[in-house]
Amino acid sequence: MRAERLVVSGGATLRGAVQVSGAKNAALPAMAASLLSAEPCVLENVPDIVDVGLMARILETLGTRVERLGPTTLRLQTEEVTSTAAPNDLVVNQRASFLVTGALLGRCGRAACAPPGGDVIGQRPIDLHLSGFRSLGAEVERRGARISVQAPGGLRGSRILLDYPSVLGTQNLMLAAVLAEGTTTIINAASEPEIVCLAEMLRRMGAKIEGAGTQVIRIQGVERLSGTTQTIIPDRIEAGTFAIAAAITGGDVEICGAEPRHMEALICKLQEVGAQVEEREGAVRVRRTGPMRAVSVQAVPYPGLATDLQAPMAALLTQATGVSFVHERVFDNRLLYVGELRKLGAEVVSAGTTAVISGPTPLVGATVRALDIRSGAALVLAALVAQGTTEIYEVDHLARGYEEMDVKLRALGASVYREQAS
Ligand code: UD1
Repeated sequence: MRAERLVVSGGATLRGAVQVSGAKNAALPAMAASLLSAEPCVLENVPDIVDVGLMARILETLGTRVERLGPTTLRLQTEEVTSTAAPNDLVVNQRASFLVTGALLGRCGRAACAPPGGDVIGQRPIDLHLSGFRSLGAEVERRGARISVQAPGGLRGSRILLDYPSVLGTQNLMLAAVLAEGTTTIINAASEPEIVCLAEMLRRMGAKIEGAGTQVIRIQGVERLSGTTQTIIPDRIEAGTFAIAAAITGGDVEICGAEPRHMEALICKLQEVGAQVEEREGAVRVRRTGPMRAVSVQAVPYPGLATDLQAPMAALLTQATGVSFVHERVFDNRLLYVGELRKLGAEVVSAGTTAVISGPTPLVGATVRALDIRSGAALVLAALVAQGTTEIYEVDHLARGYEEMDVKLRALGASVYREQAS
């Protein structure tokens, strides 16, 4: 496969309507959850992105039959788990793949998986997942490049305190606990909408879960789970990226299919910056006519501003008047994109986990590199307002999390084209 680059000619004002896809971070846990039942699970509104394909391949190696019933509908069935060891070469490419560990542990009492890969945005340990599995009675061992988790006598519900409300950590423990004996309480659980989506699917499968969306989740283990049909929630990060695209270009974009209740922190910040936001059932319209003001931004767990929108917000703030501060509070190394933004002329410096941005700065097209999914999105946003042409290399990252971003942006009037990198 040849690498691609994205060629963006800046200067267009984005106008029109864009349809949001299903959420990557809700689809991947739902796919892993299908492992918990021998019956079929049908997932609707699944985005057509590289990470979904990767998770499908991992599940197939474990015995899952994955069928595409339509452009956004997947049917997954694991009548029998044929392997409890996830393949290292696939797992190293995706953080969410570690969720198969919780699901396999729940269904089979054992799992083996390499420490997962994913975006390079900090240390990203998995200690909270592993200590949670231990609390449920599993033995955790590191064997070479693999982590082996076993509970030959079955899992027993327990009280688990997460020192930090880890999203995948919460989901992994939910997947393991739904078939454990007795009650599990996850304290300081993550409360992201993607957790609620997973809980809803598990409940439809027959699980007993209360409190998803709050900081305490209680799970009463059941003996077996059935199949179900689940609709994946809209991608609030993709929706947020288009909202920022509208604001940065001084445009007027209706983001259809978005769930405004999942985007409240971003909506507040966009209004503070000076954009107009209208919310309707299933849509958000973002416009900007006047200049933007500098603001302070903190990326924190939900319902605060999502860390996945931290880099896109920084791109936006290069066009705001005054000095903005962007504090990353979730990951320890998520400001690497600052160097790439500077290549476009942005006046931005980072110190520790804070970026300081002076604006407004006229940006000028340059050659840059997408370092991960969200920094790639930030560079696209900056390129939309840069004078001239920007070439973004390593855009394979973008395809992991955004469905046809270039096509959607072109429909709004932007000049964004994928080309084979020579
Ligand atoms: C998920 C999302 C990612 C998002 C992030 C935070 C998926 C597939 N990915 O990642 O897009 O940016 O939530 O909203 O849903 N931590 C530990 N020990 C652990 C687990 C995490 O110390 O065992 C730390 C991490 O290093 C990080 C913080 O907790 O500093 C938050 O990470 P976490 O919520 O786990 O992020 P992910 O679930 O990996």
